[in-house]
Amino acid sequence: MSDPDPRLLQRCAQRRAELAARIAQAGGGVAVLATAPELMRNRDADYPYRHDSYFYYLTGFTEPQSMLVLAVRADGSHHATLLCRPRDAEREIWDGVRFGPDGARERFGFDAALPIEQADAALPELLADAPSLWWPFALQPGFETRVQQWLAAVRAQARSGRRCPALQYDLCAVLDEMRLFKDEVELDTMRRAALISADAHRRAMRAAAAARTAPPAAGLREYHLEAELLWAFRHGGAQAPAYGSIVAGGANACILHYRAGDAPLRAGELCLIDAACELDGYASDITRTFPVDGVFSGAQRELYAIVLESQQAALRAVRPGARFDDPHQAALRVLAQGMLDTGLIARDVAPDVDAVLASGAYRRFYMHRTSHWIGMDVHDCGDYGEPGEAVAEQPDGSRRVPSRVLRAGMALTIEPGIYVRAADDVPAAFHDIGIRIEDDVVVQPDGCEVLTADAPKSIEAIEEWMRD
Ligand code: GLY
Ligand code: MN
Ligand code: MN
Repeated sequence: MSDPDPRLLQRCAQRRAELAARIAQAGGGVAVLATAPELMRNRDADYPYRHDSYFYYLTGFTEPQSMLVLAVRADGSHHATLLCRPRDAEREIWDGVRFGPDGARERFGFDAALPIEQADAALPELLADAPSLWWPFALQPGFETRVQQWLAAVRAQARSGRRCPALQYDLCAVLDEMRLFKDEVELDTMRRAALISADAHRRAMRAAAAARTAPPAAGLREYHLEAELLWAFRHGGAQAPAYGSIVAGGANACILHYRAGDAPLRAGELCLIDAACELDGYASDITRTFPVDGVFSGAQRELYAIVLESQQAALRAVRPGARFDDPHQAALRVLAQGMLDTGLIARDVAPDVDAVLASGAYRRFYMHRTSHWIGMDVHDCGDYGEPGEAVAEQPDGSRRVPSRVLRAGMALTIEPGIYVRAADDVPAAFHDIGIRIEDDVVVQPDGCEVLTADAPKSIEAIEEWMRD
């Protein structure tokens, strides 16, 4: 248990005020938000605890079994109550020190705090006579039932003149929009997470290089590089990987959700690493692909150059006023041209770039999107369609809301790739090569800030880093 960062607490209070202002616009109401449950892994061993991102965004509080109730009047004035675990000398010997309601109220700046055991008694009181109730729809299994029980308890007091909220709103819809725009406190944390993750990638590349002369007894394997990544995350102060690390040697790189396994990493093959840390509740997300022995072969070099050029084209497309889909389209054009140039797509299948794009022939070798939002969650929340714009027919005949207009403060990944599975109609030199290059970027007023630039990326930078 460490004292919360005052800058974070100030931002949490501002976020509660901003949420309150939006609830006030709807006539006032009460927002209720629980943190994530603790999960058992097997028998009495539990998964490492991770708080709920929405809850942390509004509270900065990371203890399990906690709930926030924000009561908002129509004039925007509001009152925040935290419910959390009470102090407990016996449990604190086993599980660690708790803030307790009084400590949490004083140190985190809530207006009131109660023991979590009082939730079912307190919530009907807090909800009675509120015009509306705001809670996260379909987020936490079982929460809906609790909401129903609290409302039923209010309704049972109807004859005493107490009224049930007549309206319910999805709290996620409001918070998703707020979370989409990162403030400087968040960006500071994301920059530090990115530095730690970039350092981990450098370390993994160096470990592969070192294995040329001093291989581990079992020969270099995927888990050896995963160990380097994990070491670097924790050594850098990060709490955990932001997602399951992918360390994929050779053909394994063509399996998009491969995890670090025990396959050998062989000289002459590529290794794809998609791994990054979570620091103080914020994710990073980096992919690098490098030759196990430190030198790209001719075919690897050819495909890598295409993916790199497509990533650079996508990065250039990130700026305020552009659409979320623009980097994807920019990457696709370069990838499509490269697939034609290398013979991955035969000219009689699609004669030019436009035909490759229109027919979707590229999907055989590039089957995912180029970007996703990133923030507290690696695939962060936020609407991918521009609010207020109507559903429109797309060039491919599908119907979608036009993609989001990029604005300063939005954070996204740029991660094109090419994955070539062995097949008779594909040039043999490219068989089993999988390449992805992924950076995290923030839209800035004058363009795009790359947070993860410290991980070597060009062919020259990778070969030089692995030469020394
Ligand atoms: N590592 C997850 C992703 O790249 O989306
Ligand atoms: Mn990603
Ligand atoms: Mn990734």
